[in-house]
Amino acid sequence: MLLFILFTLLPQIQAWGSLGHRTVAYLASLHFTPESNTFTNTLLNGQDISEAALFPDKVRHMPQFAYSAGWHYIDAQDSPPHQCGINMTRDCLAEGCVVSAIANHTARVADPHLPRFYRGQSLRFMIHFFGDVHQPLHTEAEDRGGNEVSVSFDGHATNLHSAWDTLIPNKHAGAGHDDELLAAWTWAQRLYANESQPFDECMNDAAECGLEWASEANAYVCSYVLAKDVHGKDLGGEYYEGAVPIVDEMIGKAGRRLAAWINAMTAPASALEIQ
Ligand SMILES: *[C@@H]1O[C@H](CO)[C@@H](O)[C@H](O)[C@H]1NC(C)=O
Ligand SMILES: *[C@@H]1O[C@H](CO)[C@@H](O)[C@H](O)[C@H]1NC(C)=O
Ligand SMILES: *[C@@H]1O[C@H](CO)[C@@H](O)[C@H](O)[C@H]1NC(C)=O
Repeated sequence: MLLFILFTLLPQIQAWGSLGHRTVAYLASLHFTPESNTFTNTLLNGQDISEAALFPDKVRHMPQFAYSAGWHYIDAQDSPPHQCGINMTRDCLAEGCVVSAIANHTARVADPHLPRFYRGQSLRFMIHFFGDVHQPLHTEAEDRGGNEVSVSFDGHATNLHSAWDTLIPNKHAGAGHDDELLAAWTWAQRLYANESQPFDECMNDAAECGLEWASEANAYVCSYVLAKDVHGKDLGGEYYEGAVPIVDEMIGKAGRRLAAWINAMTAPASALEIQ
């Protein structure tokens, strides 16, 4: 128990911060059909979906979940800012990556033969990894996804990865809120209200779609994240302003895509049989 408490208090590295993950989950829930609402409530035992989204970050440092640590990203060995691109053979490790994890957990959530406990755990992973695959620096090997790039943000020393995971989202949508759930809910509502433009949705094969989404995020590493030299710079001003539309777009896509997949999964009544 003590160990568990210690682990949950560790600072979160390498994942959209909790605000980003909560927002993806809430936005998806705004798009859920009634069937998806029932289905997710059952598999999560009524747990708040934004809380469920954080589970993979809470357990990744525990020995019994060590196998899941590599599932939060895919380290593209490309050459930003000149050349971006993911190659699954080269970049997805033997123990898996965010693309293979999306395929695995999406299939497990939909598997009516799998006991409810495991489907619930996979649903938590699925929600989380749909978020992570949309964070550009979760698709990049360079400087460990920016973890080794020292920058500052509004005067505070940090690194590029943390700026994208946490500081940019928090400044954009968390500032002024001491309640993170309320900040996430408010951000999700705003993204939901602004989703007028339809976009081409990838719905066939979770591995293919995961790769497409990762490639989309990875392209931003070249076009924006590392387009200019950021080493030692303060990113709280102009850089932040340019990042906000990208973060809105990617969090919005993550939430919509997650809902589209769960809605498709729960459309046939057979999928709702839960053991
Ligand atoms: C992908 O990576 C593998 C292993 O490094 C390599 O053999 C292959 O040519 C690459 N594919 C492309 C399209 O670059
Ligand atoms: C799929 O997920 C399960 C449950 O977390 C895990 O035991 C299994 O190793 C995963 N399979 C692959 C191929 O990643
Ligand atoms: C709505 O979305 C469009 C296109 O993504 C974006 O340009 C615009 O700034 C957004 N508006 C608000 C209020 O978020």
